Amino acid sequence: MKIAVPRESAEGETRVALTPQIAGQLVADGHEVLVQSGAGVASSNTDEAYREAGATVVPDAATGYSQADMVLRVGKPSDEEVEMLRDGTILIGTLGTLAHPDLAARLAKRGVTAISMDAIPRITRAQSMDTLSSQATVGGYKAVLIAAERLPKFFPLLTTAAGTIRPARGIVMGAGVAGLMAIGTAKRLGAVVEATDVRPVVKEQVQSLGGTFIEVEMTPEEKAAAETAGGYATEMSDDYKRRQAALIAERVKDADFIITTALIPGRPAPRLVTDEMVASMKPGSVIVDMAAEMGGNVEGTEAGKEVVRHGVTIIGITNLPATMPGSATQMYAKNLQTLIKHLVGDGTTATIDFDDEITKGATITHGGKVVHEATAKALGIEPPAAPAPAAAAPAQPSTDADATASAESKDA
Ligand SMILES: NC(=O)c1ccc[n+]([C@@H]2O[C@H](COP(=O)([O-])OP(=O)(O)OC[C@H]3O[C@@H](n4cnc5c(N)ncnc54)[C@H](O)[C@@H]3O)[C@@H](O)[C@H]2O)c1
Repeated sequence: MKIAVPRESAEGETRVALTPQIAGQLVADGHEVLVQSGAGVASSNTDEAYREAGATVVPDAATGYSQADMVLRVGKPSDEEVEMLRDGTILIGTLGTLAHPDLAARLAKRGVTAISMDAIPRITRAQSMDTLSSQATVGGYKAVLIAAERLPKFFPLLTTAAGTIRPARGIVMGAGVAGLMAIGTAKRLGAVVEATDVRPVVKEQVQSLGGTFIEVEMTPEEKAAAETAGGYATEMSDDYKRRQAALIAERVKDADFIITTALIPGRPAPRLVTDEMVASMKPGSVIVDMAAEMGGNVEGTEAGKEVVRHGVTIIGITNLPATMPGSATQMYAKNLQTLIKHLVGDGTTATIDFDDEITKGATITHGGKVVHEATAKALGIEPPAAPAPAAAAPAQPSTDADATASAESKDA
């Protein structure tokens, strides 16, 4: 296949879809890789490094898009880039089509097979393709480093000739991939860490990292309802939220820093820290709200901004992985390589096999239609009914009018 890697167009994006190393391995597998000049510069991957790896450096995005069987991106294509995509091209990126279903409609209209990394099913078999996890790992780590950098005091306990310094106390809200990484990182820096989550199963994981679990008492019914079959959190009852808020209100008074990561797929981020709670915190305390883009877990968070309320710094940073583009790109590229191998199998071109759980879950558009059930619902169109037969790509756009696979409704 001819695989194009354009420079990311979103403001502030520093990552690129492939590292020179993975580009070289794709070339060794028999593919031709076309990298837009300068695409890797912000992640310290030079044009020269891509050339040395065997990729071809092309001067602009249009040159890659005009030849590509497959386009690899980190984020969404711009409107201009959507127009550059050829009928039958496979586009892989973090497309966020549940939040931007209009993009899916435009990609379907262009005959593009769009695969979104945020729709890869969170199953064991797909772990090595899971960019939500790999990028959340980077995010959780960086959130703690940012908190440590802004906090006007040490994280660790220090006993010095100039006196004893008590360790910083932190709370991590939401102990998923990012939250667990944040707990581990804060512990390694010497902080005392507490964590909260609606999913009772994470208690042991928090404790295994040295954190203390702030446990909201739950009825057996609440325990059973707190987690979907896919392992995601659900929206809790008002009564649970009241009990959780009372417990959190007690704990935040002692916290020097809070990292919030709580998300509910397809819903606005749950509000966990009220303005009153922020006001109860010590001046100089720091909150990093990783849910800022989804409305924030903290009252007063402004997405993309750092604000000070009641003497507390609230950081609503929205693209944490872009603050560490080297490792974030390395992990993202590895996830993409595994997905490409999965699609290509023993062949030389990608096959969109709707009998395969991973391909089916992540494919958003195919054969001119939006085939991803949740995205179709977000568009207000009838979700597709019947699975499509396997279709080979590239340059073989499906002409089957019934090619409307019932893609798994993925809570991406
Ligand atoms: N491939 C795999 O097998 C795989 C890989 C990664 C994650 N997972 C699973 O996917 C699930 C989601 O992980 P994620 O990191 O993407 O989560 P996420 O980003 O969707 O949410 C972050 C955390 O916030 C928690 N949360 C939601 N509402 C909350 C509230 N009101 N109060 C406190 N906490 C709240 C969630 O339970 C979750 O732990 C987990 O079960 C995880 O173990 C599976």
